Amino acid sequence: ITAGPTREAIDPVRYISNHSTGKMGFAIAAACYSAGAKVTLISGPVTLDTPNGVRRKNVSSAIQMLDLSMQQLQDGCDIFIATAAVADYRVAEVAEQKIKKAGDELAVSLIKNPDIVATIAQQDQRPFMVGFAAETHNVEAYAADKLVAKKLDMIACNDVSRADIGFASDENAMTVFFADQYRIEKRDLEKASKQEIAQQLVEAIHDAITQKIKPV
Ligand code: C5P
Repeated sequence: ITAGPTREAIDPVRYISNHSTGKMGFAIAAACYSAGAKVTLISGPVTLDTPNGVRRKNVSSAIQMLDLSMQQLQDGCDIFIATAAVADYRVAEVAEQKIKKAGDELAVSLIKNPDIVATIAQQDQRPFMVGFAAETHNVEAYAADKLVAKKLDMIACNDVSRADIGFASDENAMTVFFADQYRIEKRDLEKASKQEIAQQLVEAIHDAITQKIKPV
């Protein structure tokens, strides 16, 4: 399970990041452990306690998160759940020394980060792949597109334009879509605590895995 934000260094004292708190990923880690899974949580910088029974590995940047995720794949992984809010871009050239204040403008060149969940999904012997989509509009259509584009088995999407759910909130509501080879197409998870949503997601993963349409 990846969780939290990533932090992309600009120089030794500054970085680019986002407001992800890691709450959803940590709740899913706890729910997976309760369901009997051996759980590794690859977390960006967050202020949460590690859930009971979960092995946690801390990372900072997207590249580090990808490296540890690939390593985890080698060590064995049946289900990969990507909840991390990975920075889309990183600084092209991280300054070795603190950038000093100079003119009125400062340009920092950014380059695209690798897509962690899509990279794992492309591997041979890939795990069951779960992704998340946080959107402000056309929520379901964008999520369905991402399911296909990133070659996921399942995607859980939420509407982050709603102030009462998502990001820093303690509650969430989601719609889950499944790839074509599963018997379930879509499932709505009603607004509930992130712990309850996490449990429902674990049940959805279980149902998908056990109801996979067998190739004839
Ligand atoms: O494309 P978008 O960022 O909306 O996709 C969200 C999903 O993809 C999440 O599951 C997120 O953890 C994953 N992701 C990733 N690596 C990235 C960007 C997103 O694993 N560089």
